Amino acid sequence: MDCLRDWPEPVVPVQSLSESGAAVIPDRYVKPQSERPSLDSTADKNILGIPIVDLGGLAEGTAECRATMRAISDACQEWGFFQVVNHGVSRELMERIRDVWRGFFQLPTEAKKAYANTPTTYEGYGSRVGVQKGAILDWGDYYYLQYLPQSARNYDKWPILPISIRDTIEEYGREMARLCVILMKVMSVSLGLDANFLQKAIGGDDVGAALRANYYPKCPQPDLTLGLSAHSDPGVMTVLLADDQVKGLQVRKGGEWITVQPLPHAFIINVGDQIQVLSNATYKSVEHRVVANASSDRLSLAFFYYPKFDLPLGPARELVSPDRPPLYQPMTYNEYRLYIRKNGPKGKTQVESLKAM
Ligand code: OGA
Ligand code: NI
Repeated sequence: MDCLRDWPEPVVPVQSLSESGAAVIPDRYVKPQSERPSLDSTADKNILGIPIVDLGGLAEGTAECRATMRAISDACQEWGFFQVVNHGVSRELMERIRDVWRGFFQLPTEAKKAYANTPTTYEGYGSRVGVQKGAILDWGDYYYLQYLPQSARNYDKWPILPISIRDTIEEYGREMARLCVILMKVMSVSLGLDANFLQKAIGGDDVGAALRANYYPKCPQPDLTLGLSAHSDPGVMTVLLADDQVKGLQVRKGGEWITVQPLPHAFIINVGDQIQVLSNATYKSVEHRVVANASSDRLSLAFFYYPKFDLPLGPARELVSPDRPPLYQPMTYNEYRLYIRKNGPKGKTQVESLKAM
């Protein structure tokens, strides 16, 4: 773990680079040709978007319930991504959580740097993931904090400004956890498992969750870099509140990158690597990335739901048969998450490397 004690180089907030007004980005942010986005490509014009699911349809005993479960199941197999509406989270809270985080990133640099993070826990204000010296960096800053289990919460790492940010995070986190519990049930049943299967498998009441507020400042050369490099999320599932004004998230579908068009007041849900492992690849985590933007900054809030750290997770026995042998070797999340924490976002290389054979 020694290599995760501190960053290999001094950390420069991307926001300060952006605000310097330079017309050229530093070399460290310039991606190799093959990773650069094609900003005028088909991605934006592609009308085929990620599926939209109305969670109002889950009311028990209704005809819509089966159709809704089916829609989620199809989305988890074909896209690894979907948007949900009618999710029961109040619009007022969605606006409030965005406002407090916008307020945080507008604080003076020194106030933010008081919360500077290190790679030991990643909690706090940061500008990189991965500890490789000389790595090409992404055009984004973030704030990361652990929300669940309650016993792992470290309030010293939570910002105190702007006023009410802590209460708002608490309240928002509760709502996110509630939504995750519902979606775990839906995914369990649609995989043919007992409704409580997935929640139990990932630790029951001891599951983990973290909030990552992503801030992507304006970028003078968005064609050369990325706000966030291609990756799949290592945990169980992610609930993303995207910016309500500025697009940027792209999802890989086949060989193409599809730009997500967030619906107002919707959440974007995506399958994490652990669901791919538990479902023995019936459901798949999917690569996604964020493109930078020359004219507007962008804020998104990702709520990561992940397993209790010390449970070895492999394919559910119920989903394994002679015809469908287990595709992955069991691993604890403690071990699993070290990969991204060392190497930074690297597509889907990690879950691929778990392949049993
Ligand atoms: C993430 C992520 C997407 C976004 O934080 O893992 O994929 O739109 N964020 O910021
Ligand atoms: Ni992600």
